[in-house]
Amino acid sequence: MEKNKLKAVIFDLDGVITDSAAYHYLAWKSLAEELGIPFDEQYNEKLKGISRMESLELILKNSSQGASYSLQQKEALAEKKNDLYKELIRQISPADLLPGIAGFLKELKENQVKIALASVSRNAPFILRQLGLDAMFDYVADAAAVPNAKPFPDIFLAGMQAFGLQPQNCFGVEDARAGIEAIHRAGMQAVGVGTPEEMEDADLVTTTDELRLDLILDKLGMEL
Ligand code: BG6
Ligand code: MG
Repeated sequence: MEKNKLKAVIFDLDGVITDSAAYHYLAWKSLAEELGIPFDEQYNEKLKGISRMESLELILKNSSQGASYSLQQKEALAEKKNDLYKELIRQISPADLLPGIAGFLKELKENQVKIALASVSRNAPFILRQLGLDAMFDYVADAAAVPNAKPFPDIFLAGMQAFGLQPQNCFGVEDARAGIEAIHRAGMQAVGVGTPEEMEDADLVTTTDELRLDLILDKLGMEL
């Protein structure tokens, strides 16, 4: 049987390209503490890949006063978190690329495989610039133009459609459960970066350091 040809790889950003997921956590933790709401790293896993407002709703669920906040108050809280997050990500530099990412992106370029970013973060373009990766990405999906965050497939479909490709000619790379689900709902195979427990639904689980095109193609049953 003929194998599907790989034409594009569609990446999540936070926690895949750089560890900005840790800054999202710190910013939410600071807000939760200020509001007296319990919040830890385990609960934070649920927030990965989902939108800013949905994340806030999940945090407020653990507050007895959560239901009493008006939309305006919630928007102010989300903005507060984002202001702190923006402070934190200002320190990101090319040195903060996760291990193996620079080499893997280069390998894709050398093999004429297109590279897209599918992050639902409105801060993604800023982080790409800080990392010095602007020129590496052939397409950056616009989070603001996509109606539904992960686990909906919208942002991965936007990446794929920008190249006029079919899902069987792409795969996605993610660190969040919601992201793996989004990739699958877009009809693509998913490479999960993280622990086997968190990434149990991924088609291949690896670390960024171990991303090698030949190994991935082999595991996913694809070819160049
Ligand atoms: C995703 C993160 O990439 O972006 C989520 O995994 C975050 O944790 C979401 O909530 C939205 O990000 P931002 O920067 O627009 O608040
Ligand atoms: Mg992520």
